[in-house]
Amino acid sequence: MIGRLNHVAIVVPDLDAAAARYRDDLGATVSDPVELPEHGVTTVFVELSNTKIELLHPLGHDSPIAAFLGRNASGGMHHVCFEVDDIHAARDQLLRSGARVLGDGEPKTGAHGKPVLFLHPKDFSGTLIEIEQV
Ligand code: CO
Repeated sequence: MIGRLNHVAIVVPDLDAAAARYRDDLGATVSDPVELPEHGVTTVFVELSNTKIELLHPLGHDSPIAAFLGRNASGGMHHVCFEVDDIHAARDQLLRSGARVLGDGEPKTGAHGKPVLFLHPKDFSGTLIEIEQV
């Protein structure tokens, strides 16, 4: 079921500083900041040859990552995203295996305009998992 690692998302307290670290010190291709108001984040995409890193910073008052940054002042890994071919089939298989799907269980449009679901970190070794239909 599980496909490619689509991205690793890292919440950062200073988006410009984090982008500069990846661009200038690691030599990665780094996008300009992209505001995603409907998701409450500003993101910088770091392109790697085999996947992406998404640097996330809170945007607006109700950002879903504000509390994370409150608990982790220097930032930290927020989630990993795996690609799936059929998100409903993947969800149903996960539910049958006892994994918990966050929210109402229906896929939402994610930061890349594709259907996504998030899986409970307690079912995945303490790691928030996003699955994205590609
Ligand atoms: Co993501």
